[in-house]
Amino acid sequence: MALPQQFLEALRANLSVSQVVGRRVKLTRKGHEFVGLCPFHNENTPSFTVNDAKGFYHCFGCGAHGDILSFHMQIDGDSFIEAARRLAEEAGIPMPEQSREQRAAEHRRLERLQILDLATSWYQARLRAPEGRPALDYLRARGLDQSALDAFRIGYAPGGRGQLAAALAEEGVSVNELIDIGLLKRAEGGGAPRDYFFDRVIIPIADSRGRVIAFGGRALGDRQPKYLNSPDNPLFHKGENLYNEDRAKAATREHGQILVVEGYMDVIALDQGGFQNAVAPLGTAVTEHQLKRLWRLTGEPVMCFDGDNAGQRAALRAAERALPLLQAGKSLRFVALPEGEDPDSLIRARGAGAIRMLIKSARPLVDLIWRAEIQARKLDTPERRAGLEKALGDRAAAIADNQVQWQYKSEFRRRMRDLLPRRREPQHSSGIGLSTRGDVGGAQASQERALLALLVNQPWLFEHRAEDLNELTLQTPAYNQMLQRIREFLAVTQELDTATLERHLIASGLEEGLRAATSPMVYRQASFAAPGAAPEEAAKALDDILTRHGKDKLKADRVAAAQDLARMWNDENDSRLRHIIQEEIGGG
Ligand code: UTP
Ligand code: MN
Repeated sequence: MALPQQFLEALRANLSVSQVVGRRVKLTRKGHEFVGLCPFHNENTPSFTVNDAKGFYHCFGCGAHGDILSFHMQIDGDSFIEAARRLAEEAGIPMPEQSREQRAAEHRRLERLQILDLATSWYQARLRAPEGRPALDYLRARGLDQSALDAFRIGYAPGGRGQLAAALAEEGVSVNELIDIGLLKRAEGGGAPRDYFFDRVIIPIADSRGRVIAFGGRALGDRQPKYLNSPDNPLFHKGENLYNEDRAKAATREHGQILVVEGYMDVIALDQGGFQNAVAPLGTAVTEHQLKRLWRLTGEPVMCFDGDNAGQRAALRAAERALPLLQAGKSLRFVALPEGEDPDSLIRARGAGAIRMLIKSARPLVDLIWRAEIQARKLDTPERRAGLEKALGDRAAAIADNQVQWQYKSEFRRRMRDLLPRRREPQHSSGIGLSTRGDVGGAQASQERALLALLVNQPWLFEHRAEDLNELTLQTPAYNQMLQRIREFLAVTQELDTATLERHLIASGLEEGLRAATSPMVYRQASFAAPGAAPEEAAKALDDILTRHGKDKLKADRVAAAQDLARMWNDENDSRLRHIIQEEIGGG
């Protein structure tokens, strides 16, 4: 419904922005403007400004911007008409005359919402009734407590026929109305309409203001389909809504963060475990529409996908969908779940800490695109490297926003440069020995990287040489810290998979070292360290590295001991040097 310009101007003339915004945000006057903490993102110092003269608010932190109408649309998810109606009421201005059709449409909409609400309450009551006992047992067995059942208004659609229609008929709801909102479907060969949901747990889906607009129904056992969702109805369009958006909205504003998971049960389990800021798309890949909704709530939603191949392909597809829509400060981050787990199983088995660690390990969108292109090709010829360059350029070109596109291009160039460093030519003319200290350090660091890559890609190897590895000190401080973390982690866990270990290292702030150790350049020099290398080859390589490392260390110790002895000739230094020399001879 279009509203006349005159009416909108009257609204804006009657209500100042600071008055409307001020009810939700504590504003302080500052010159011609007001400032406050932005309600659309998480911040500690105010970057949210309100200018009454210009009639808008603007946040310098997250870019939120608009007038009194868009304020309600953004903060409460109101439609344009809903926002206008609220403001009109507040200003004491009558809503413009609606046409007969407009009034009728509005009336139908409210009626549908009412019927959906009645149906929700009826399903809830069935879950509490004796016939709902198996469903209740099922939900309890999955760990849902009463407060979760109440908060999410979970119910049960019984197996008997026609009960819902009979119950709602008493409230004056007709069969046709139930067909219209997708709770009954016409029987194929004529006859009485059938219940859409039959012997299923009912999970109501609400709009962004918490009004039920559809349902998901889960089978109690292994019956297929596992989930049945309401068909689209005039209030519900699958690709446009997000499950739990209404409840997650407030929590998101608090944490400055939103988690996007795959399923209803994930959302509910996370909520119970202290993460109220989770939403799920409704059984489809995330749509453009949903991305835009997410970005209204926060700058960088955290997308959680399965760690298996299918999950990672889905993550890449989401990244590709987001690429054209990226804007300054608007992106996605990605989390890969341990294989075979979803957030529901993860939080129940390992608690909130596991989820926090996962969130910390989230990777930026640029990493997913980069990894996909690197994995797709070898880089051993100029043509293949040019192929990578071109593919990355094409990816960046998909970004509509010029500024972000430019940043992606330069980031990709920088990564290409780091990936294929120009080799420094040996300086024959200088006459000085080729083996400078720097070269020795470089060789050592690259050996240390290969060792770390080995352990990350085949964590089981740790057991193979645990004793030596536990005593090992690496020369490069960052790598030594990584080794330390790997040791600590493997000491307390049964999880010997690469993904978990990587996440742990990233969560410990060692992402840079991890990236350096597991880069294609390392694998080119040390194929035994690459993912998927033959186990025997990897084990042998570890033995070699440790042997070599032991020799190098003894040699360094011997040099140091000899220097000490030269400086101070005493028994202690003398015997230390001898010991080292003996060990060197013995071990060689
Ligand atoms: P999953 O298969 O991952 O199920 O589907 P889940 O959420 O972990 O469910 P539980 O734990 O087995 O109960 C993820 C989402 O995909 C949609 C639903 O929205 C579900 O939450 N889906 C799944 C369907 O719409 N239909 C299906 O048959 C299966
Ligand atoms: Mn699940």
